[in-house]
Amino acid sequence: MLRSGWLTTGTEAEAFEAELSEFLGGPEVVSTSSCTAALEIALASLALEPGARVGVPTWTFPASALAAVRAGADVVLLDVEPTTLNLSSESLEAAFAEGLDAVVGVHFGGVPLPAEVREFCDSAGVPLVEDAAHAFGATDDRGPVGGAGRFTCFSFYATKNLTSGEGGALATTDPEVASFARCYRLHGLGEGSVDRYRPGSLDTPDVAVPGIKGNLPDVLAALGRSQLARFSALQARRRHAAVRYRERLGDVEDLEVVPADACVGSADHLLVVLLPEGTDRSHVRMQLSERGIGSSVHFPPLHRLSWFHDHAAVGPSGVAGAESMADRVLSLPLHPGLTDGDVDRVVDVLVEDLP
Ligand SMILES: Cc1ncc(COP(=O)(O)O)c(C=O)c1O
Repeated sequence: MLRSGWLTTGTEAEAFEAELSEFLGGPEVVSTSSCTAALEIALASLALEPGARVGVPTWTFPASALAAVRAGADVVLLDVEPTTLNLSSESLEAAFAEGLDAVVGVHFGGVPLPAEVREFCDSAGVPLVEDAAHAFGATDDRGPVGGAGRFTCFSFYATKNLTSGEGGALATTDPEVASFARCYRLHGLGEGSVDRYRPGSLDTPDVAVPGIKGNLPDVLAALGRSQLARFSALQARRRHAAVRYRERLGDVEDLEVVPADACVGSADHLLVVLLPEGTDRSHVRMQLSERGIGSSVHFPPLHRLSWFHDHAAVGPSGVAGAESMADRVLSLPLHPGLTDGDVDRVVDVLVEDLP
């Protein structure tokens, strides 16, 4: 690939898009530099009026909401179901009553959003942008997540199930959204602007929309392609580790895995546990770290982060579900390289440190 002399977006990215489309069952796929870029493109394509209201679960990575901010919208933070940490249908319904112009739904940890969330959006005629940063490889009642939606945004960041180091994609069943995305991801210079340095190109640049620099270079697309070729094997190893965690953690008193029951269609992106009430999470994380075990918190909810606290509204039904979980969740290591022995060791160290 490197010897071809073509490093930026070109034939590798095109081939990656075609392979992703095949994997997802045929939607159009536009590769991007990140999921953040895909979210920004999706929100921009909606041409929201300034001050439009976009509902976003408070339990997510900031990028899900910042894409709405970049589109000139106001963010309305919605609650999540404590059982799954996915968007709560009740919270969404209450927010619809006050008016929403779009919704960003997050398939948290790889667990697909409930069909009810899509149905609410459909019946209200409100576009749903699916943040599937965690959910490449997940399936729901429609088939693969990303196969049937109008806006599904994937991340291929270093920690994701399918990675190209950095990268992302927008999958869509709508050809107009796809052609908007191809134009918008490269400054709005036009759909064919990726070809502008090819021999024989007589492209005369024009800007149709004020786009972003959000294309995926071929160097990274090649990494993505090699990962995609091994994806089912990588997923099987992830699933194996997730099952073992559940088996081992099932007997530990006062400790729960979220969601409690394994979800058949999950992409198994995260392994989140709920620590016993009152546990000093920082102390537990320090103890794990001292034994060489990384851990993480997915996520500090957005309503607790300074900018959102000051600038975003909270939906009419509040965020009590998220608050009840915010200080107790902990993500344990989950990746295809984990052996059974690794999982056992993480669980043993964790249990030793619990009160
Ligand atoms: C839920 C969620 N959405 C969006 C993103 C942004 O992804 P990227 O780093 O590819 O822009 C992340 C990143 O971790 C995420 O967790």
